[in-house]
Amino acid sequence: MYRERRAIWSLPVADELPPWPHLFPALKPPIDVVLDIGFGGGEALVALAAQRPDEAVIGVDVHTSGVAHVLEAIVANGWQHVRVVEDDVLELLPRLPMNSLAGVRLFFPDPWPKTKQRHRRLARTDVVPDLVDRLRRGGTLHVATDSSGYAQQVAAVCALDQRLRGGVVERPDWRPVTKFETRGLVAGRQPIDLIYERIS
Ligand SMILES: C[S@@+](CC[C@H](N)C(=O)[O-])C[C@H]1O[C@@H](n2cnc3c(N)ncnc32)[C@H](O)[C@@H]1O
Repeated sequence: MYRERRAIWSLPVADELPPWPHLFPALKPPIDVVLDIGFGGGEALVALAAQRPDEAVIGVDVHTSGVAHVLEAIVANGWQHVRVVEDDVLELLPRLPMNSLAGVRLFFPDPWPKTKQRHRRLARTDVVPDLVDRLRRGGTLHVATDSSGYAQQVAAVCALDQRLRGGVVERPDWRPVTKFETRGLVAGRQPIDLIYERIS
């Protein structure tokens, strides 16, 4: 069952991505496509997909059990606006068209707190510009993290990209709470949301 669902709804990373109207034929162009990086258990992706049937979402994660959860929701709800990629986002990025995304979500990326692990963080100077390249003008990059060090890194890296405007915002009510966020709250860590718009 999992393999069949995966064959239908997953996007193999080796192939060129078809244009959005081919990928999401049930949606009326122009199609807003959001990239959800590291959707984990899939709670936020599934909750937002249910609330926003007109917004296409491509979820990418290397975490297999979360992928199964999202595939289950796609089939159970008959969704035509959600696709998943089971791979490293760094493999997917070069295959995404430039100036094509309405949004990028990076909710609670792995914090890699130790100094020697920092190079593994996704919000870094050799990745963020590639993400911004894929955002269309007016598109947004939304990062949520409960690591103040990570939030500082996001702010510093985004400040280097003249195409972005934004910074820390109040936690948006619409962002669903996930298990990961709850675990942090229980441990006394507050989430920090940063939203940047591509302005040029
Ligand atoms: C801490 S979890 C957060 C999950 C979810 N976004 C949330 O808010 O609950 C981080 C997720 O990012 C995924 N991840 C880490 N590096 C990744 C990469 N390079 N490409 C895709 N997913 C990645 C992990 O597998 C994990 O599921």
